[in-house]
Amino acid sequence: MGDYYIVPILIAIAVYIYCSVGLKKLQNPKPPKAPVPNYHPLPITPPMKYYAPGADIFPEPPEMESEPSETISGEELEEFLLNEFKIDVEVIETTQSPSLDIHHLRLNKMTDLGTKMNRALEGMKARYNLPFSQMSSRIGDIAIAAPREDKQFVYLRDVMDTPEFEELADNPDAIPAVIGIDENNNPVCIDLTKAPHFLVAGVTGSGKSVCANSMLLSALASRTPDQLEVVLIDVKQVEMAPYNGLPHLKTMTFAPFGSVGMEGAYRVKQVFTEPGDAETALQSIINTMQYRYAEAKRLGVRKLGKEYPHILVIIDEMADLMLSPAFGKSIENKIVRIAQLARAAKIHLVCCTQLPNVKVLTGLIRANMPCRMVFHCSTATDSRVSLGRSGAENFLGNGDGVISQPDKGEIRIQAAYSDEYDVAALVEYYLESGEPYTNGI
Ligand SMILES: Nc1ncnc2c1ncn2[C@@H]1O[C@H](COP(=O)(O)OP(=O)(O)O)[C@@H](O)[C@H]1O
Ligand SMILES: [Mg+2]
Repeated sequence: MGDYYIVPILIAIAVYIYCSVGLKKLQNPKPPKAPVPNYHPLPITPPMKYYAPGADIFPEPPEMESEPSETISGEELEEFLLNEFKIDVEVIETTQSPSLDIHHLRLNKMTDLGTKMNRALEGMKARYNLPFSQMSSRIGDIAIAAPREDKQFVYLRDVMDTPEFEELADNPDAIPAVIGIDENNNPVCIDLTKAPHFLVAGVTGSGKSVCANSMLLSALASRTPDQLEVVLIDVKQVEMAPYNGLPHLKTMTFAPFGSVGMEGAYRVKQVFTEPGDAETALQSIINTMQYRYAEAKRLGVRKLGKEYPHILVIIDEMADLMLSPAFGKSIENKIVRIAQLARAAKIHLVCCTQLPNVKVLTGLIRANMPCRMVFHCSTATDSRVSLGRSGAENFLGNGDGVISQPDKGEIRIQAAYSDEYDVAALVEYYLESGEPYTNGI
């Protein structure tokens, strides 16, 4: 009888939990659900007119946190190197990027650094339990990069708001894409028409998909479907699904296996998630490429005009395709073919792989895709295959890596961060903002 006082307490607890969950939901609204994939047959819709929204379409990033502290100070580093390894250096400057402290060192005595420095870095790794790495220095003899304890995010929108990106976006011939920022906190943006094909390598969780997403989102926010079409291949079926419904997705014509001519052909506009579909999609891109070459020849021009949009092909997790027993070889051949010829046809390729070994990054693929973005790799061998040198095994993960282009050399980067809220905001904008062309315009 006396236990009835427990009932109001239970009710109070239940009301409290209900309210706090409700409040959380209000504070963190779920991103809107991606529209259901547009499976065949696709309705014939009138062409629509769109405007590129620019950086403002993405949710406002949170404010930068307070000034960071150093993991290891310059003096500490000098002492450590001198006492433990008899390397006499002076730290002439320490710069900070969102993920790294970079100590620029001058050698006080001529020292044969090679193996000595490697041993010292190993020693520091063991002492501080952090992956230190050696870099070239623009002001000193060498630089040592130390990971920051309170690493900060570099948000896509912040990089898009810089004059460097805006200049690229204002150039009608360019397809601008955000990569991130470099070790001196300068924005790193590329023009996809100048660096057409990219290999992106690194272990699972190192930041490949986020980086590819940031490139894609910044390009999509700056270019309309008339200027840029995209083909997305994602056999893992996780990252790219929210893009279904985006008007930039290239409409492709698939013919059923064994059909003659265009008999039974259907049109698809979706993210491809099956190796078989991916193979067909790549063949379709090759067909487009050949058609464009033929058109250029017929018209007697070297450069295709505005009526041919740029096509950006992104393959997330290429390993799953290349190692597929049924389609692997054929897919490799198609990727190589596209990498060799597609640039002049305004087609650009970005391939990500979590297994940067010689089975996936075959000699042919490496030879034809010289632009690389390499994030944390599990071994020095993987680093050598993907980057041409060891060192990527010391990168810190979460978008810490290098971008390497044949004409521009290597730049250490922190990749820009974007997430599903950004994707949802962009897809929703384009879904809602299309207007049918009116007569005469
Ligand atoms: N540029 C970045 N800045 C901050 N965190 C990042 C960044 N890139 C990735 N991350 C973190 O790492 C996680 C895995 O990244 P992801 O790109 O999915 O890895 P991968 O595709 O290489 O397996 C992300 O969910 C995020 O938390
Ligand atoms: Mg991924």
